[in-house]
Amino acid sequence: MIQKPKGTRDILPKDIYKWQYVESKISNILEEYGFKEIRVPVFEHTELFQRGVGETTDVVQKEMYTFEDKGGRSITLRPEGTAGAVRAYIENGLNSTINPTKIWYNMAMYRYENVQKGRLREFHQIGTEVIGTESYLADVEVILIGRRIFKQLGIDNIKINLNSIGCPKCRSEYQKILKEFIGKKLDNYCNTCKSRFEKNPMRILDCKEEKCKKMNIGAPMMIDYLCDECKTHFENVKRVLKSNNIDFSIDSSIVRGLDYYTKTVFEFIDEKTGLTVLGGGRYDGLVEELGGIPTPAVGFATGVERLMEMFEEANKGEVQDSEPDLYILSIGEKENEEAIKIAEQLRDFGFVVEKDICSRSFKAQMKYADKIKAKHLLVIGEDELNSKIVKIKNMKTGEEYKVNFLIDDIVNILKNFRV
Ligand code: HAM
Repeated sequence: MIQKPKGTRDILPKDIYKWQYVESKISNILEEYGFKEIRVPVFEHTELFQRGVGETTDVVQKEMYTFEDKGGRSITLRPEGTAGAVRAYIENGLNSTINPTKIWYNMAMYRYENVQKGRLREFHQIGTEVIGTESYLADVEVILIGRRIFKQLGIDNIKINLNSIGCPKCRSEYQKILKEFIGKKLDNYCNTCKSRFEKNPMRILDCKEEKCKKMNIGAPMMIDYLCDECKTHFENVKRVLKSNNIDFSIDSSIVRGLDYYTKTVFEFIDEKTGLTVLGGGRYDGLVEELGGIPTPAVGFATGVERLMEMFEEANKGEVQDSEPDLYILSIGEKENEEAIKIAEQLRDFGFVVEKDICSRSFKAQMKYADKIKAKHLLVIGEDELNSKIVKIKNMKTGEEYKVNFLIDDIVNILKNFRV
């Protein structure tokens, strides 16, 4: 049997209601804040991610699904959503419509990662991007959205960590100091770190190799070298977060795995597993980097699989799959055709109705009605057709109601049962 590729998952019909519940909660929240959904291609020109995400990141160096298409172009399955969203923003001139542009997406992402708990090769992100404002208020607003998502999903074991990684101006000063620190012992770092030393020494602080982590202890931190503008921005973000009762910690070790970030960066951590379930920050240079006019921006993405784990744990089965209002059991050709007509009319009234489409026996249909947890049962047999009277049975309580075999009468009974 052919199995699914490593690091992918099937989301089965029995679980999909949980996904739909979470997705619709989040999309409602985002619409409440005035965000509009965007959908961009699954694959883009590889160069978009090389330039956007950064040549020296793990994502670009090790994790991209890149291939040559039949026309000889280098194509990459999107490993994240921000670069594609910004490309679409520039290409479609969204800046000339409503400013700032506030968009959100719910998309599958692809990274060739070491598969482990919470780390997949195909995963989903729900993300937001606010493009066109440098105000600290936008940073605060996206963090507020993040908090609202977890609150509305009933998840409270979340820790919010915050940092500022400055702007190109203060970062270049800081990088000189960091290089001095690392340079003295560069031989002891892994080869990836060595290769990043010249172009992007800050990436070295994010290395997961134990020996590099050890070497990084005591390294100078960006947050201590911010320029006045970045410092003020960060102070403002912190102040307004506090006045909105956001509980956060400063974590000066957050550098994030993507190169486009500037100033504020943040992560929402699952306190139980330690996994980052939402990550984001400001990226003031990305629009220009990708060929647009200089435009500041900020956003985040939450990993839906990780979020679902937390939701299931917090929800403890309180959100349940919907059950059909009615199963129509019918035996015989005439009866089946009558049943299909009635089912169709009841659906016009908004009821969820199923009927047999396999010409199965009475017993088999009863079994099926039971399996799908139909709330009510209506039997149409020869007697019912002759007498024009049918019985509707409440499958939970066993109560039975006799009604005229007329659509309005059936609707009335089902409506009464509903309340
Ligand atoms: P990221 O931190 O790379 O940021 O990913 C965001 C979230 O996606 C992570 O916090 C995690 O929950 C989830 N995630 C990432 N990789 C995996 C994986 N292999 N398996 C399962 N879940 C994963 C971004 O992608 C940025 N584009 C976020 C952003 C939007 N920044 C600004 N705007």
